[in-house]
Amino acid sequence: MTTKRDNFSSRAAVIMAMAGSAIGLGNIWRFPYMVGEYGGAAFILVFILCSFLLSFPIFLSEAVIGRKTHANAIGAMKQLAPNGGWKVLGYLSVITPTIILSYYSIVGGWSIEYFFKSFSLNFGEFRPSGWTPLLFNTIFLALSSVIVGLGVKAGIEKFNKISIPLLFVLIVLIMIYSLNMPGAGKGVEYLIKPDFSKLTGRTFAFALGQSFYSMSLGMGIVITYSSYIHKDENLVASGVGTVLAALLFSILAGFAIMPAVFSAGIAPSSGPGLVYQTLPHVFSGMGEASPIVGTAVAVLFFFSVIVAAMTSSISLIEVGVAYLVEEKGLKRNIACVVVFLVAWILGLASVFSIDLFGKVDAFSSNFLLTAGVLLVVLFVGWKMGKEDVRAELTNQGSVNNKLFGIFYFLVRYIAPITVLVIFISNLVL
Ligand code: PHE
Repeated sequence: MTTKRDNFSSRAAVIMAMAGSAIGLGNIWRFPYMVGEYGGAAFILVFILCSFLLSFPIFLSEAVIGRKTHANAIGAMKQLAPNGGWKVLGYLSVITPTIILSYYSIVGGWSIEYFFKSFSLNFGEFRPSGWTPLLFNTIFLALSSVIVGLGVKAGIEKFNKISIPLLFVLIVLIMIYSLNMPGAGKGVEYLIKPDFSKLTGRTFAFALGQSFYSMSLGMGIVITYSSYIHKDENLVASGVGTVLAALLFSILAGFAIMPAVFSAGIAPSSGPGLVYQTLPHVFSGMGEASPIVGTAVAVLFFFSVIVAAMTSSISLIEVGVAYLVEEKGLKRNIACVVVFLVAWILGLASVFSIDLFGKVDAFSSNFLLTAGVLLVVLFVGWKMGKEDVRAELTNQGSVNNKLFGIFYFLVRYIAPITVLVIFISNLVL
């Protein structure tokens, strides 16, 4: 393992990269719908609590593993627990993102297709499977792999530093337009009207699952990206920045999408249906009133979706690439080709069957991801040793550690119990 490792060059770079991974389709197509259906402002409140009380400590736990070892996910676990079964966490951390990549990039492909269709506002029927999606999937995956191939600094860091600020600007522009559409108020009401009666155990489980997925937890990403964080950087500050950026983007996306959907008089939906069926209707409607405006909004929107998906897919690719480079001695470019091919071949199943697509998504985001999160908190809370964890989180005591006790308590007791309950309920329900 003599490979020279890059580091991210600043805290801003770390936050942009982490936020790039976090901000993605989850924020755009699931969050706004969940908010509306599960209690409006009440749900947002629960979501914020889940983000800070559970996702944030779990994020820090992964960050501790990554930065302490400065190694890929499998290498990190080999260093920290050379003997015993903990290596499973390392392997799971490389397998899960690769499986997710195989279908996430298909969605990236749909977005490229819809970006082109936006210019004519002629979307036609949504065809998620087949040869055209395969073509666009290949393009999306290839572009993402090229960025990763350029390296941590010259590829991943640079791409995110441009993309994330751009994404915020675009979503705010779309939001301003959407909020000014006639009847937009109904969409705002849908998002914020608090309904505490909708807050059940299931709602809580959904909020937590969405929060994990959105923060890209339990799949080696935070471990891998954190391994490129400099020893002097304050992990807690980077983590807070990431959580806030992801939360803010989710909320902005809600206010960009739902007012427009309600203004067009369409029932809101979630998932692929929202982005590739409902919204095209909305854009076409805008186009009838003014073709230029309709086209501009659609083009900007699908461009944003492509970029948001790409900043996430490069984080998925990097996990496998870091492993192949450091553990298998491959050149970075070759490693990118290998990950590309594995994801492309796995993706053949989902690209020709939307049924399988849904199954792979459910299996990886409900089961694999939750298992990964559970192992992370058990490892950091019970195996690693309190003083080692404290030393890493506080840069050997040189940065503030007042809240360490709370963090450790959450990671040791609250997180494992909660995640276990969710894991079991995912299995049996
Ligand atoms: N966090 C991303 C989103 O919300 C999804 C993602 C999951 C990205 C897993 C990378 C890894 O869309």
